[in-house]
Amino acid sequence: TSAQIGVTGLAVMGRNLARNFARNGFSVAVHNRTAAKTRALVEEFGHEGTFVAAESAEEFVAALERPRRLVVMVKAGEPTDAVIREFAPLLEPGDMIIDGGNAHFADTRRREKELREQGIHFVGTGVSGGEEGALNGPSIMPGGSVESYATLGPMLEKISAKAADGTPCVTHCGPDGAGHFVKMVHNGIEYADMQLIAEAYHLLREVAGYSPAEIADIFRTWNRGRLDSYLIEITAEVLSHVDAATGKPFVDVVQDRAEQKGTGRWTVQIALDLGVPVSGIAEAVFARSLSGHTALREASRDLAGPTAQPLGEAEKAAFADQVEQALYASKIVSYTQGFHEIQAGSEEYGWDIDLGAVAAIWRGGCIIRAAFLDRIRAAYDARADLPSLLSDKGFAEEIATAQDDWRAVLVAATQQGVPTPGFSAALAYYDALRAERLPAALTQGQRDFFGAHTYRRTDREGSFHTLWGGDRSEVEA
Ligand code: 6PG
Repeated sequence: TSAQIGVTGLAVMGRNLARNFARNGFSVAVHNRTAAKTRALVEEFGHEGTFVAAESAEEFVAALERPRRLVVMVKAGEPTDAVIREFAPLLEPGDMIIDGGNAHFADTRRREKELREQGIHFVGTGVSGGEEGALNGPSIMPGGSVESYATLGPMLEKISAKAADGTPCVTHCGPDGAGHFVKMVHNGIEYADMQLIAEAYHLLREVAGYSPAEIADIFRTWNRGRLDSYLIEITAEVLSHVDAATGKPFVDVVQDRAEQKGTGRWTVQIALDLGVPVSGIAEAVFARSLSGHTALREASRDLAGPTAQPLGEAEKAAFADQVEQALYASKIVSYTQGFHEIQAGSEEYGWDIDLGAVAAIWRGGCIIRAAFLDRIRAAYDARADLPSLLSDKGFAEEIATAQDDWRAVLVAATQQGVPTPGFSAALAYYDALRAERLPAALTQGQRDFFGAHTYRRTDREGSFHTLWGGDRSEVEA
């Protein structure tokens, strides 16, 4: 039999993706650097569908129907290049290499260009949803050529998650690196969502004095409303979990140092290059790095802080409602920033990414899946050239309603000395965007003073310089 699709790299993501294809009726060739893993997969899950085990690269390629569709599920970076070097010489024009790892989009652009010269379609594809998603339906973000999507798209639609309205959570994001770029920003937003939830928890614990179990219940309540999302749902699970060894809340026995594999950091690095203010995502990345500076934190433990004044019983519930408002408003801002970055990337690289379609495929399967994303889809569907999510009337109205509580929460956080970098950055972004005048005018004056960097006037065209060291008259630059 010739297989309709092949998967090489059978660690947990690759294995689950291969099983997902097989369970959906596709014949799947499977291959791994160490053949024992290939055999184990077929032995354990062979009954789920049609697998063709291939021991060598040649066998693997020979097992695939043409044009070949070869899914690579190895570590991003050099391992991906190594696999391409191994397989590309065995392929023919029209064949497709689908990279489902968390690759940097710049690498994807390079690989796509190189392979295109050989007539091979390189399809950098974001896959979100972790192990469970890979098996039962991930959100899939393919880039690459339109041609490749014609035959690949229907297969991906089959194995993908479905949104509540039944739509498959997959779309052709755009050419070359567009898919991996979209996945990168997904992860940046994931970091921001996680940080905002963590801050809400921290406030409920430190300012309101709720226990982790009580906070889990509060999150469960929120999850029945507009914050309904996978991350809120699992947060309640984590918070209500009790450590078997100590009988303490699980969250109290875990070291408070957050790690990261790098995709959130990329989102911020690229945003800096593109000049897009993703302050909420940046604060989320920095919050993780700060948490890991154990020695620095140790050395800072005695620094002065305010005297804590925990809320009384009567005020607690009202505070929790305010935190919900602050979390929701901040969430709107981080998605605003993330979508701005996708829009900017799309313009920079000529990808023509449909922002509404991106929101639509994030409604199911991925880590940031949430009811909220259907609102974003609707906002872009109503107006594809929306300057920003904050320009959507619905979101603007919701923030208008939330803003007093949002500010009150930050006042409490500041007074009690609870750090809220995500909430605070989001509010600063909101207030800066709506400001009629920004102090950037002063910044321009300073730049002109020390470096003759010139400025523009509000009342006339042209660039100007003031002779600061002389008679302070103005000259046209
Ligand atoms: C997903 C996730 C996943 C990611 C990590 C997060 O969409 O399924 O984003 O792709 O690799 O789970 O990575 P960190 O280790 O950086 O938190």
